Amino acid sequence: MNQSTARRYASGIRELARKRGVAEAFRFWSDYRKLKRELERKLAPIAARHRVDSPGVAYQKYLEVDYWLFENLRRVFALGLDRHPRKLKILDIGCGAAYFLYACRYYGHEVEGLDVPDNEMYNEIVAALGIKRYSKYITKFEDLPTAERYDLVTAFMICFNCHNTPEVWNIEEWESFLLSLHDRNLNADAEVVLSFNIEKSGDPINPELLSYFLSRNATVDVPMIHMRIDYRFK
Ligand SMILES: C[S@@+](CC[C@H](N)C(=O)[O-])C[C@H]1O[C@@H](n2cnc3c(N)ncnc32)[C@H](O)[C@@H]1O
Repeated sequence: MNQSTARRYASGIRELARKRGVAEAFRFWSDYRKLKRELERKLAPIAARHRVDSPGVAYQKYLEVDYWLFENLRRVFALGLDRHPRKLKILDIGCGAAYFLYACRYYGHEVEGLDVPDNEMYNEIVAALGIKRYSKYITKFEDLPTAERYDLVTAFMICFNCHNTPEVWNIEEWESFLLSLHDRNLNADAEVVLSFNIEKSGDPINPELLSYFLSRNATVDVPMIHMRIDYRFK
């Protein structure tokens, strides 16, 4: 582990200790170590096949299990999913290597993912982890390829919104997506948590889209991960 990663871990643990107390921070670290060992064991053959030197932002970066598991366990704790009073049915859209879902399942939730069909590394990882995943490219104005209903729908570091292209989704596309989700896929009292990648403008979304989300009762949390802002619908 390099020094900057170690510092990042230490500051994450300190923040949790401040918010929830030392015992909870200790539980986080102990669960993290356990899940990391499990994941590294299960994914070793896949990592050997797909690892590349210096992956940068390419998908092979997710083979760095210690870093990405840490990030995903932080998401799980930030959303209170590690101590939720009831078992939730969770869909993670753009689940990638599915570490978030793996951790949610560890805390007793029923989990499903959705991602593109043609990334062999993701395909092998979700199969090795036994995560149910819908394989589909999301496109604007289309329903999701499932009519199941969920208590929580998440999407982290979103790319399916045509991220970083001139066609990046605006109000019309998001409204269609959210209405379809609401009508077809959400249980009563379900929540949707979205976190956006930074666009070329330097912001995750434009002010009009932010106003639209706020008008739909979104709350914008303190940026949870990597300075990305999360929008939560009630
Ligand atoms: C930046 S990665 C984030 C992965 C994961 N959510 C995380 O936070 O670690 C974006 C993910 O979105 C997926 N993705 C990109 N375009 C998509 C689309 N049109 N439909 C479904 N998934 C898509 C990618 O395959 C990738 O797994």
